[in-house]
Amino acid sequence: MDLLDAIRLRRTTNNKFAPDPIKPEHIRLLIEAASRSPSHFNSQPWRFLLIRDQGKRDALAELAGASMKELMEGEFFQRYRRYFRFDDSEADGQRDGIYIDHMPAVLRPFIKQVFSPQSGKLLGMFGVSKLLGSNQADIVRESPLILAIAMNREEYKPGELSGLYSTISLGAVIQTFWLVTTSLNMGMQFISTPLEVPERKALIAEMLAVPPTHELVALFRMGYKADEAKRNSIDWTSSQRKPFDELAHTETWDAPMAEDLQNAPSLLWPEKAPNAKD
Ligand SMILES: Cc1cc2nc3c(=O)[nH]c(=O)nc-3n(C[C@H](O)[C@H](O)[C@H](O)COP(=O)(O)O)c2cc1C
Repeated sequence: MDLLDAIRLRRTTNNKFAPDPIKPEHIRLLIEAASRSPSHFNSQPWRFLLIRDQGKRDALAELAGASMKELMEGEFFQRYRRYFRFDDSEADGQRDGIYIDHMPAVLRPFIKQVFSPQSGKLLGMFGVSKLLGSNQADIVRESPLILAIAMNREEYKPGELSGLYSTISLGAVIQTFWLVTTSLNMGMQFISTPLEVPERKALIAEMLAVPPTHELVALFRMGYKADEAKRNSIDWTSSQRKPFDELAHTETWDAPMAEDLQNAPSLLWPEKAPNAKD
């Protein structure tokens, strides 16, 4: 696949993958491509764990589902309020964040209350946290491949320069995985919630035998895209992006975008960018 096509098509896969196991040569390609990513001083501060065993995936699914439910019943929405959009005008206005565009009709009138201090209780009462937890567990359990990334603690030291450089390197390697999965007609999704709960993160690191020299920092589920994947009962989209002239400045922050750049044709979106404003 052409690189620009992979960039155009890459997105987070929220729903189920096809059940087919990932071909060994595709897994090898993912790791070998990842190893071409840049890192500070070529330190390659990462190690990758490839989890295919169903027993381990079941255990990860339980931990992911339970963490999701627990976080939803806590301060999740309060903490992350600024990222959520609930209607077209909110999503179009800011052109960032997570737009919850799909949910059971019965929940829609109550949705803004999700951000009240009582939100956790409300989500529990309406059964939303349970539903989100079980959706999360299902999609993790049924993902043919889970990728865990562990960073070398010698390099990944939060607050130090090598910590910043490791984080930048980590971003580069993750994007490589994302583009290569796209080129293989695979999808990829972060599984952040279990690593947000320290006890669960420790349990997962133990289950994967991550040594004390390394810190488990990210989990992803991967699989081939399903032909007809149903949306989750509560689902979101996040294809909206800030426009070119808001994202970048020429020469200094306070100067307007240079006219030649403003008028340059878009090679990425010769037709129309997804969700572009008319
Ligand atoms: C550090 C980080 C954490 C993320 N955590 C999650 C997550 O827990 N669940 C999820 O579905 N997506 C997660 N994402 C994906 C983002 O939500 C997604 O990249 C963003 O909304 C843009 O959507 P797109 O990837 O479809 O273009 C995460 C992305 C990053 C970079």
